[in-house]
Amino acid sequence: MNKPSNVVEMTPETNLGDNSTAAYDIEKIRADFPILSREVYGKPLVYLDNGASAQKPRQVIDAISEVFEQYYSNVHRGVHWTSQQSTTAFEGGRSKVAKFLNAPSENEIIFTRGATESINLVAHSWGRTFLKAGDEVIISHMEHHANIVPWQMLRQELGIDLKVVPIDDDGNFMFDEYENLLSPKTKLVAVTHVSNALGSVVPVKDVIEKAHAQGALVLLDGCQAVPHAAVDVQDLDVDFYVFSGHKLYGPTGIGVLWGREDLLNSMTPYQTGGEMISSVTFEKTTFKKAPHRFEAGTPAIAEAIGLGVAIDYVQAIGLDNIAAHEHGVLQYATERLLTIEGLKIIGTAKEKAAIISFDLDGVHPHDLGTFVDRAGVAVRVGHHCAQPVMDRFGVAATARASFGLYNTRGEVDALVDALEETRKFFG
Ligand code: ALA
Repeated sequence: MNKPSNVVEMTPETNLGDNSTAAYDIEKIRADFPILSREVYGKPLVYLDNGASAQKPRQVIDAISEVFEQYYSNVHRGVHWTSQQSTTAFEGGRSKVAKFLNAPSENEIIFTRGATESINLVAHSWGRTFLKAGDEVIISHMEHHANIVPWQMLRQELGIDLKVVPIDDDGNFMFDEYENLLSPKTKLVAVTHVSNALGSVVPVKDVIEKAHAQGALVLLDGCQAVPHAAVDVQDLDVDFYVFSGHKLYGPTGIGVLWGREDLLNSMTPYQTGGEMISSVTFEKTTFKKAPHRFEAGTPAIAEAIGLGVAIDYVQAIGLDNIAAHEHGVLQYATERLLTIEGLKIIGTAKEKAAIISFDLDGVHPHDLGTFVDRAGVAVRVGHHCAQPVMDRFGVAATARASFGLYNTRGEVDALVDALEETRKFFG
């Protein structure tokens, strides 16, 4: 993230939640998302579970329908018109992702099923090729399980060591501890860009600089970063960057692994089969270069095209505008939630994206989630696929409100009202 959300310059114009401005026409944006105008249990839907998955604008929904209604076919396999059209649109999606990340080459964009598959791809492909017993991989205490378990599997298989950067009581990445963990044995630093459970923004530029000084590579999990602010992989000077399409207002089943081209081409393929080969005989198979080297089988065609349209969508609004809007909503939500008796925010890092985890005294998060749902308010409850974070704060679960580009201060008020009712009911 070039500009973490907390350092976005706030102006009177951008610091608005509900009101339309020339810079951020919230009503026009909301009208693009059909689901936002529906009711649940007779109440307007207040969707605050964007960290789990974001809603889709009409533009993405229409683009996916158009693929199947107008030109769908398999890609890279046909000389016929529909295959040519599908291939052009599919590769157009790749090109949009490359520009979105400011990647030097479209060849560096690997389509996967999601960030989980992207991290597994790196662990299997790069890890199995380049890691050996005694090598160290550094992760942080606030990783999603998808950035813990693949490295544990390698530890079991190869005998690598896994080091964990602690977080402080506010949920900040402890940079001094990180520096102490780095050593010539460190081969990879794999950390989240933004914590899905806490919203903490990791100082990734400094993390990368220190890792590179030790000769280690860096993988960033950008799932909770790309929907909230512009990411430039060249400016970051990172080695691998992963994210999921569905959290960026795109379809499910499509994700991205970006990697430096030389690195990708030095890695053995993750999955093998059709389309990733140069030639096959019964004696020997040779592989294509990236990206096709890592895209065995028929890819998620409509989904990749839909992701490209989602990227068009957020870029038309402007990532800086989105960051500023969400920061205003985050500030407002933080202030309002803290007025609720017995409510404690878990994760108060210096730099935060638009995610708030919280605990309401005397109310189990699952009861809380069920109660506010009846008021139309959707939040996530549970461990957020980040059990070590829950352990760190001594809780089994939290409730989490995670905001997107269409959320408003009015919706924060609806959450606060529902929580006040919850507190009274269970009090
Ligand atoms: N990783 C997603 C979340 O944070 C599903 O909710």
